[in-house]
Amino acid sequence: MIERVTIAHSHEQESDPITNFRSRVIGLGSYLPPRIVTNEELTRYMDTSDEWIVQRTGIKERRWVEGATSTSDLAVEASRRALDSAGLAPEDLDMIFFATLSPDHYFPGSGVFLQTKLGLTGIPAIDVRQQCTGFIYALSMADQYIRTGSAQKILVVGSEVHSKGLDISNRGRDVSVLFGDGAGAVILGATEVANPHLDSHLLSIHLYTDGAYAEELWVPAVSTAYDEEIVDQRMLDRGDQYPKMNGRQVFVHAVKRMPEAVHTAIEQNGYQVNDVDLFVFHQANLRINEAVAHRLGVPDEKVFNTIEKYGNTTAATIPIGLDAAVKAGRLEPGMLVASAAFGSGFTWASALLRW
Ligand code: ACO
Repeated sequence: MIERVTIAHSHEQESDPITNFRSRVIGLGSYLPPRIVTNEELTRYMDTSDEWIVQRTGIKERRWVEGATSTSDLAVEASRRALDSAGLAPEDLDMIFFATLSPDHYFPGSGVFLQTKLGLTGIPAIDVRQQCTGFIYALSMADQYIRTGSAQKILVVGSEVHSKGLDISNRGRDVSVLFGDGAGAVILGATEVANPHLDSHLLSIHLYTDGAYAEELWVPAVSTAYDEEIVDQRMLDRGDQYPKMNGRQVFVHAVKRMPEAVHTAIEQNGYQVNDVDLFVFHQANLRINEAVAHRLGVPDEKVFNTIEKYGNTTAATIPIGLDAAVKAGRLEPGMLVASAAFGSGFTWASALLRW
């Protein structure tokens, strides 16, 4: 039985019961730490090969932070770039949403550290814990505040430092080769839409969760769920502090749920798959995205991937992908953009935007 949460708004709605505001992306930025870790480098730490990794995942290299660089450190760089691209100062923001599964600390959330690093005080800073789907979940929440007129300019950040939480021995090699560090951010601003087929705006977001699969992709510790302290030597000996994944389950569900969510988004807005100009999916694995594109009947040139260079940066993948697509000249104003993500939870989601 699927526990389903759907938050959808069709552009066919004639009027909004609360306001006429819609949200749109008015700023975009990303930051990848400079240290490149190739597949070849990973062979120094574990029994693996460039061939195995590329064949199964498409990943050639990823970025790892150095020294004391934290998740909010990456986020502040991406946020500044997004603010610059919007022509805004941090003081112009009304709220912050911070999506991550690799927070700076157990508590408080990383949003509060980001807020301080941006020189801000007072505005709400909310962490979103939906892993690979976190950015779309955060975007959905920001969209609700804008639609109700409660906020006009919201920073939505996805940022991850995976490298410090990976088991880079043979024990963790199935997971560790997949993940990289990075951050991406958008500024969501209020807009009024005269022509939904032309004007830049966020058309809809659909969110889903099925907690029955929570333990198929998770980090068991630190934890309150055991008859032990939240950090205990026995947990460390078991390697509970490292991600555990049932890769085949993830694959099977991702290639089913992402196309479903995209179809729902497109159909509820009165479009067809062919109307979408660009697909910017979560970057879990190139093979997953190839299978999703195949199931949707979408040609490769309409799918924008970054996984070859950055690996899986979880909540950061979609804003990093949007930013890279703009820089590559693949994403231009007026285009219809579909995004979808799938990840730990299991959670999955789709978003449809007029860029
Ligand atoms: N290098 C070399 N060999 C490896 C590695 C590695 N890094 N990792 C595992 N292996 C070995 C295994 O030990 C196993 O060896 P064995 O046959 O001697 O036991 C063999 O390779 C095959 O292992 P499988 O787990 O069966 O490999 P599979 O073909 O299923 O591929 C993979 C694993 C790539 C993870 C695949 O299951 C997959 O793509 N799953 C999707 C999960 C995913 O992409 N997650 C991303 C994060 S989650 C998210 O963002 C949604």
